[in-house]
Amino acid sequence: MTKKLVVVGLGYVGLPLALLARSRGNQVVGFDVDKEKVKKITSGIAPFADAYITAELAKEPLEASVKPDVVRDADVIVVAVPTPVTHDHMPDLEPLVSSLESILPYLKNNQLLSVESTINPGVMMEVVLPIISRRPELTLHIVHCPERVNPGDAKWSVRNIPRVIGGLTPEATRAGKDFYESILDAPVKAMDSVTEAEAVKILENTFRDINIAFVNEMAKSFDALGIDVKNVIEGAATKPFAFMPHYPGNGVGGHCISVDPYYMIERGRQAGFDHKFLQLARDINNSMPEFAVSLLDKGMQKLHIQKKPLTVALLGLAYKKDIDDIRESPALEMKELLEKRSDISLRIYDPHVLHLSTVASLEEALIGADVVMLATNHTSICEALTPENLKKHNIQFVVDGKNALDADGIAQMGILYLGIGRTRS
Ligand SMILES: NC(=O)c1ccc[n+]([C@@H]2O[C@H](COP(=O)([O-])OP(=O)(O)OC[C@H]3O[C@@H](n4cnc5c(N)ncnc54)[C@H](O)[C@@H]3O)[C@@H](O)[C@H]2O)c1
Repeated sequence: MTKKLVVVGLGYVGLPLALLARSRGNQVVGFDVDKEKVKKITSGIAPFADAYITAELAKEPLEASVKPDVVRDADVIVVAVPTPVTHDHMPDLEPLVSSLESILPYLKNNQLLSVESTINPGVMMEVVLPIISRRPELTLHIVHCPERVNPGDAKWSVRNIPRVIGGLTPEATRAGKDFYESILDAPVKAMDSVTEAEAVKILENTFRDINIAFVNEMAKSFDALGIDVKNVIEGAATKPFAFMPHYPGNGVGGHCISVDPYYMIERGRQAGFDHKFLQLARDINNSMPEFAVSLLDKGMQKLHIQKKPLTVALLGLAYKKDIDDIRESPALEMKELLEKRSDISLRIYDPHVLHLSTVASLEEALIGADVVMLATNHTSICEALTPENLKKHNIQFVVDGKNALDADGIAQMGILYLGIGRTRS
């Protein structure tokens, strides 16, 4: 049955969901506080690079508003606002609280209210419910259905990624499950409680952070021992059970993996539990941009380079390949560390983040550069950084922050290659 849906927060999570729901025949309206974003969306322009969103908005702009009263006529309201951390890594629930407070006066009985933003266990009962309870006469069906979208992933999208859902009541869980199953091509698992649904998302994302931290630690250790971590992981991955390969790199970025563990760490602290493992993983992953930059000094020492300033081409700024999202990107931290150095002349280039690039093309970054530092493995950059091209540009050594380049081929050209846990000279 056709529903009237309002999506609150038209970002990487909310906008694809809104467009998917519309493509299933629902009447969809967006609400966002960002006037510019709303203007673009209502003009049929994608506010960020994404093939699905670009195509869907070009077909037909999405109705959207900066006014919260659009929720008045909705059957279903999905909240997908940011849940960032502060500078000192404390959960910042301000966008969630203010979005709920802004729609509260317009909510009506029997609406389904789904929070998709990533939150720690307890937020639905202790933050969301008290806000809604300021209107005690209201009867809403309140659920948490955490989003798992993976930007840039061609196989898994909002449409086909299975979900979990938990409601404040069994009726809410049922209504939420029915709604999501009506728009997704994927199963929706009902959890026993809303708190379990919150905990699922935190478990998934801390699992990933911890595993990446583990291989990052192995990479640093193997670097000291002269063992190639990538080859070792590929060897271990031949075991058909009980091993899941994760790969090291210059750090963990984005709005999820590098943020969500802090929500659990703080929640644990409030409950008197010290999440040592989660904090250690965060510390190791946070140390990786500095480790990647330290390879620059390693290269200079190995090759006895005295030249000052040394011209370094820092390639990539986004937190992962082929997207334009720079939130919490380790490449930005590498950039800051390099910018502080007086012995370096820095060129920065990211084809997806031109507003922070200092040169307009990869070629401009490479001409006259002494060192290449790869910070994001965008396909176009990796394809261009062939051993022959690096040789042609007289690059003296390469720091590969993503272990994405042809280490052996580069070394065969007589160029020193320094990856994360792998060296070729
Ligand atoms: N980006 C991802 O890959 C991803 C994946 C899974 C889960 N999540 C989670 O989903 C949530 C949203 O993430 P995102 O990446 O879509 O964020 P985003 O920043 O891309 O989008 C959020 C949108 O919410 C709007 N907004 C902020 N405050 C608002 C308010 N008070 N009222 C209305 N709109 C408001 C912003 O203007 C923005 O357009 C976060 O909790 C995040 O952790 C993100």
